[in-house]
Amino acid sequence: MLAHYLSFIRALSASRLGRWGVALTTSAFCTFLLIQAAMLLGLITNAYVGLIVYLALPGLFVLGLVLLPLAWWRSLRRTGLSSRELLRRHLADQELSAGVTGAPVLRTAAILTLVNVLFLGGASLRMLHFMDSPHFCGTACHEVMSPEWTTYQVSPHARVPCVECHVGEGVGALVSSKVNGTWQMISATFELYDRPIPTPVHQLRPARETCERCHWPERFYGSRLETLVHYGNDRGSTPSYTTLNLKIDSGAAGATGVHWHVGQATEVRYASRDDQREEMLWVEVRGAEGEVRRFVNTRLDDHETRSDSVRVMDCVDCHNRATHVYERPERAVDERMRLGTLDRSLPFIRREAVSALTAGYPSRDAAHRGIRDHLRGFYRRLEPAQAAAWLDRIDAAADVLVEIYDRNIHHQMEIDWGAYPSLLGHRDSRGCFRCHTRDMQDAKGRWIPDDCTLCHSILADDEPDPFAYLREVPQTGRTRAMHDYLRDEFLTSFVGEATQ
Ligand code: HEC
Ligand code: HEC
Ligand code: HEC
Ligand code: HEC
Ligand code: HEC
Repeated sequence: MLAHYLSFIRALSASRLGRWGVALTTSAFCTFLLIQAAMLLGLITNAYVGLIVYLALPGLFVLGLVLLPLAWWRSLRRTGLSSRELLRRHLADQELSAGVTGAPVLRTAAILTLVNVLFLGGASLRMLHFMDSPHFCGTACHEVMSPEWTTYQVSPHARVPCVECHVGEGVGALVSSKVNGTWQMISATFELYDRPIPTPVHQLRPARETCERCHWPERFYGSRLETLVHYGNDRGSTPSYTTLNLKIDSGAAGATGVHWHVGQATEVRYASRDDQREEMLWVEVRGAEGEVRRFVNTRLDDHETRSDSVRVMDCVDCHNRATHVYERPERAVDERMRLGTLDRSLPFIRREAVSALTAGYPSRDAAHRGIRDHLRGFYRRLEPAQAAAWLDRIDAAADVLVEIYDRNIHHQMEIDWGAYPSLLGHRDSRGCFRCHTRDMQDAKGRWIPDDCTLCHSILADDEPDPFAYLREVPQTGRTRAMHDYLRDEFLTSFVGEATQ
């Protein structure tokens, strides 16, 4: 059996070109199998190796295959023999004699062709699969994607492949993503991209097609209690609490709620002045019966409210940071203190941590050194007698800050604090208040509501007690009235009845 193959290969390699073809094809094939095995065993995980394995090797393999008929054709031309005569010259007679199942040489050729086709088919499938893997998307163009890759890995969607949100399903999506991807490779190679990468992402699939495969609006009901801890800039970094009861209902059963915008019966459309979608020109609500209400920005002149970039509101108009979550320095420090990784027993640690993080550094290395020097220097000045004994704790705190810095700041892409503000809420940016403002009025002069309890009940706002407004207060006057108002609002919206 093997003898058939060897004599076939020998015949193919009769000319120099043929030998090149055989060498290329065989070595590409073997290298592919070897590296593929190493990848399956987890010995190799580098995305560049993947590029070589799935693009370069099959390319060389095909090139080798193309050389073979070319070599044969050149031999025919050079020797002036017919194909049959040339075959006779290179192959033993028994290879050419037709048996019951055809000449052995034909069988050998057929089997090898089948192997080639299977190999190429398999390699292409592996290639498509590989290029869809988050690891490839996140690391193949390391410098460009490293911010997104870093923030992705610590997000609630760390196990959701990039393509689930960025490509979506269907052949159309696949083709357009490959065309797009080719352009991205070119722009990454020649550094044609913007820094930071601009958002909104225009090619993003309508979020309702992608996000709703896993989350759908009917599932949003009721509310969610959330307590945020802030630490003070005093010596003891004293905690205070803000507790919100977020009304996340989709409004199906008549309850008001945040997901009303994407509820079944509603469609909200808007036109914005700029591409950043920061200033709204008008907002239109289409109800279940097709009735339309239009709110116009009263701060703009009439002619300014015409626009052709109209967008139907979807998940990403609020959850623009669902996956690539960048932190604010204060919030990042508060969160590490809440988790206990940042040592609160160091005096003034909250204040110093934030100022060390935001001092402004030219590079990552400079930041790592600067943050450590800042903390060490501060404690040496504050407590000269203690600083040496505290060194381990100070350095451990510096390590935590370095981790925060590396997650959020990416010099090579010019990403600094606040480069990608979140639209969820109204802290990082105007967020909800882009529309929920008295400037947005309908024909009857009613504005999109901005009451503080429309979207969340407030149970504490920077108070020492996370449920401050649920407790009795001995005070009188305005504070007392506000306190009672907020408590009753919560009880009414949460349980459907107020006290008394
Ligand atoms: C759960 C959905 C989801 C997943 C998974 C996801 N992204 Fe995104 N991505 C988004 C959304 C939403 C935006 C912001 C869109 C906007 O503001 O218009 C975004 C924005 C981006 C941007 C533009 C820069 C920015 O931060 O706004 C890049 C680049 C990007 N994603 C790459 C990736 C890569 C690479 C992966 C996988 C490692 C990935 N994404 C995984 C949803 C996702
Ligand atoms: C393939 C499934 C999948 C897709 C697609 C998906 N998600 Fe998720 N998402 C999840 C899972 C699973 C969780 C829960 C993670 C957890 O409980 O920690 C989650 C959590 C969330 C959360 C809660 C985050 C938090 O901090 O608790 C939000 C908000 C969210 N997703 C929004 C989105 C948006 C917006 C999109 C579309 C851009 C999207 N998701 C696409 C699976 C998905
Ligand atoms: C593009 C404009 C726009 C943005 C951005 C926007 N909203 Fe709205 N929202 C509206 C409009 C319009 C209404 C309907 C007002 C009315 O009917 O009087 C509304 C109504 C609501 C309601 C009441 C729903 C009900 O059940 O009656 C809630 C709650 C709400 N929004 C929360 C939010 C939150 C939270 C955000 C930010 C994360 C936000 N909205 C961002 C336009 C917007
Ligand atoms: C008007 C703004 C707005 C829109 C549009 C919106 N969301 Fe939300 N969503 C919120 C807010 C506000 C919260 C609560 C805040 C939080 O989770 O931090 C929330 C919470 C969530 C959660 C967590 C729910 C839980 O039980 O804790 C998920 C998941 C989610 N949204 C997915 C989606 C998806 C999917 C879409 C699109 C179909 C969508 N959202 C559209 C504002 C919005
Ligand atoms: C249109 C909806 C909406 C309105 C109106 C609104 N908020 Fe909020 N608010 C939010 C959302 C959404 C968040 C973010 C919750 C989160 O981070 O998960 C938020 C967060 C907050 C926070 C916590 C911020 C932080 O990071 O510490 C406070 C405090 C707050 N709101 C107070 C108010 C007050 C006071 C008003 C009235 C002036 C108000 N809100 C009006 C939607 C709204």
